[in-house]
Amino acid sequence: MMQTQLVFIVAFSAFVSTGRGQQSLMEYMERRIVLLEERISQWHDQNSRHGTELRDFKNKVLTMLENLEKDKDAWRNEMENTNTRVERLEREVDYLETQNPAPPCVEVDEKLTELQINKAQKKKKEKYEKLTDCSDAISQVNAMKILKRFGSTSGLWTKDPLSTSDKIYIFDGTTNDTVYVYPRMRDFTLSSTRKAARIKLPYPWIGTGHVVYGGNLYYIRRQNEFQVIKFDLSNKTVVDSAVFPVEQQVPVYGLSSFNYIDIAADEEGLWAMYATKENEKNVCLAKIDPVTLGIEQMWDTPCPIENAETAFVICGAVYVVYNTKLPSRSRVQCIFDASGTMPGEDLPLVYFPKRYGAHSSMKYNPKEKQIYAWDDGYQIIYKLGMKAKGEL
Ligand SMILES: *[C@@H]1O[C@H](CO)[C@@H](O)[C@H](O)[C@H]1NC(C)=O
Ligand SMILES: *[C@@H]1O[C@H](CO)[C@@H](O)[C@H](O)[C@H]1NC(C)=O
Repeated sequence: MMQTQLVFIVAFSAFVSTGRGQQSLMEYMERRIVLLEERISQWHDQNSRHGTELRDFKNKVLTMLENLEKDKDAWRNEMENTNTRVERLEREVDYLETQNPAPPCVEVDEKLTELQINKAQKKKKEKYEKLTDCSDAISQVNAMKILKRFGSTSGLWTKDPLSTSDKIYIFDGTTNDTVYVYPRMRDFTLSSTRKAARIKLPYPWIGTGHVVYGGNLYYIRRQNEFQVIKFDLSNKTVVDSAVFPVEQQVPVYGLSSFNYIDIAADEEGLWAMYATKENEKNVCLAKIDPVTLGIEQMWDTPCPIENAETAFVICGAVYVVYNTKLPSRSRVQCIFDASGTMPGEDLPLVYFPKRYGAHSSMKYNPKEKQIYAWDDGYQIIYKLGMKAKGEL
């Protein structure tokens, strides 16, 4: 445009002086004007074409966006459908598992047979002195509740079954010296650790085999040997400690190598699951005196260590929970009843509904009949359905 004007002005000054020049100038100007007009109309065309193209493009994009939105809805529906189907399948699997408690592989099959033989032998063994007449056994897991995701993959959380307080105790990790205490469940689920009280222990703990029982914390310390430390939670002092009177200890659960001693509380008092080199295939059980920390009685259970994840005790019977190295569903696959009242055959296999990774601990609360579990950093409560031992 600027160039055109420039040429025009130069031409004008060259021809303006003569009459012949005037005519030529008029012709020249007309030609230029025609050319300019043509170009202007071309611009118009182009502009309106661009306008149309832009509109078309905008419309296309809008349609695409609309379609995307529709697709998204379709996807969401699809996802929901799939979820429902997965849930239904899981329920079916649950049902099938309770109907046909077939062990998942031959290896386990053999162990079960072995277990039954051992059960028959065990009946001859002496019964420990029962403190209560409890005879509850798990019939199934009735419900699960995921309370929170907190801390490391391994840890434990628990309540004192003998106390009227609702305090929640959190042991994050398999070794540390600081216990978090929340006044009640709600405070734990709703707030961060900044709101928690802290108890600093005189020695770090090892594993997840600790319990809070009657106002005391019983926890495992490893120095050269393993010790059980009894720590008074009200005045924060060590009341007593005892070297666990067993030599050459090995991890008690094949899938949780951090636990050499796992203390459990039930209706009858305190127990310890442990394992030794001497009998390295099976879980051993001991009854512990909560006052003196002395061991009252010991048993070799028929429950294999291999693929065991954790265990708990209910009314004097140990329930060992198994899994596979590639985590599937946790199940109680071996029960040893120290009180000797459980019928040996056809015990139901109890399955836990779902899992994230690995249960690093399961703490049974005899008052509430539920289990506080730590599954890969999720804090879960399993509510148990019970039956009398004789009715299993
Ligand atoms: C305990 O855990 C905290 C937080 O993870 C960490 O900072 C601290 O060093 C640990 N203490 C010990 C003694 O392991
Ligand atoms: C702490 O309390 C326990 C039990 O109530 C008691 O035996 C112990 O002497 C107390 N320790 C201190 C240092 O007060």
